[in-house]
Amino acid sequence: MDNQKIRADFPMLIKHPKFIYFDNAATTQKPQSVINAVTNYYENNNFNVHRSVYSAAEKTTKMFEDCRIKVAKFINAKDSKSIVFTAGTTQSINKIANGYYKYNLKKDDEIVVSIAEHHSNLLPWQNIAKQNSAKLKFIDINQDGTLNLESAKKVINAKTKLVAITAVSNVIGTTNNLEALIKIAHQKNADFLIDAAQATPEIKINIQALQPEWLAFSGHKMLAPTGIGILYGKKELLEQMHPTQLGGEMIEHVDKDNFKAKDIPYRLEAGTPNIEGVIGLSAAIDYLQSLGMHNIEKYCQNLGQYLYDQLTKINGVTVYGPKKRQTGIVSFNVDNIHPHDAATYLDFNHIAVRAGQHCAEPLTHKLGVNATLRASMYFYNNKSECDELIQQIIEMRSFFNGN
Ligand SMILES: Cc1ncc(COP(=O)(O)O)c(C=O)c1O
Repeated sequence: MDNQKIRADFPMLIKHPKFIYFDNAATTQKPQSVINAVTNYYENNNFNVHRSVYSAAEKTTKMFEDCRIKVAKFINAKDSKSIVFTAGTTQSINKIANGYYKYNLKKDDEIVVSIAEHHSNLLPWQNIAKQNSAKLKFIDINQDGTLNLESAKKVINAKTKLVAITAVSNVIGTTNNLEALIKIAHQKNADFLIDAAQATPEIKINIQALQPEWLAFSGHKMLAPTGIGILYGKKELLEQMHPTQLGGEMIEHVDKDNFKAKDIPYRLEAGTPNIEGVIGLSAAIDYLQSLGMHNIEKYCQNLGQYLYDQLTKINGVTVYGPKKRQTGIVSFNVDNIHPHDAATYLDFNHIAVRAGQHCAEPLTHKLGVNATLRASMYFYNNKSECDELIQQIIEMRSFFNGN
């Protein structure tokens, strides 16, 4: 991949050439093609979807529905009816918890997550477990931060109704062995949910190969606008799911006392949807596919490995996660410098990294720290930006510690 050519597609990177953006796990920058698609929608196609018969609105509805088909192909799902548009991963998981498991979990049933989950894939399950008198159980991690499959085999049992696991840790960048985990879950007749928020930006997801019951991801972490996300569900489960919102555009008939909902996916998409988000997501998928998901994965993996190798050469720097890197996400700490102080120092030097618990507090505690610094890189980042970060960390150590 030609990094300089790619960078030219991103207005933010062109306008701020000295700025090093290493917070891609929070949200990615947007290429011109996505910005153009959204602008074009407002300039030429700004009509509501699924309701009007005039041709301009029908054209927008077609653009909207074409994106549903594109998303299904992007994750290799068989049927675009399995694709529900949401506001993001958080909303998708909450819909699954409150629209399906709320009605399907009995007392003493068990939900299994890992200790490394983002709060968006933890809090909804804590809540539903409490409401339904079910139990929440945790798969542990190994010393190097990877998920412990032996722990998974012990924790998942005949009482397990759902296993909900992230594909990629947003803190330490590990990828989980989804094939093995899904096999363990399905052997016990448990459902499997993949939190793919950090996976879809970098890794090809193949629903037909993996066969999870559910999958959730966010557009804004993969070049699309904020406020658009995807809930994938097996059709038979989506058909049983209760809409968590009621209103316009989700009904067949309404009388004074009752309503009959439309078929999936529309029954789960009440109200005017995020049309610009869907159109932006469509352009984002085109962009990703023009580069090739396999190339993106390889590039981010190499860059993550490069940064890891350079960081571990600096005295007083602790890097979390395994030696062999799988993604562009790297978390670390610098001795005697609080991550927030370090992030502020780096900000003075035009480098944006995240400091804190990264919405995964149980994992940071498990790592034995209160917070970390996180550099999360994407395909438009490069080694010279990593070198600049390394140089700044060396200078920061002598600034704070005198060494
Ligand atoms: C692994 C993981 N899951 C879920 C989320 C929540 O995504 P969103 O805030 O887009 O809903 C994030 C966001 O950082 C994440 O990294």
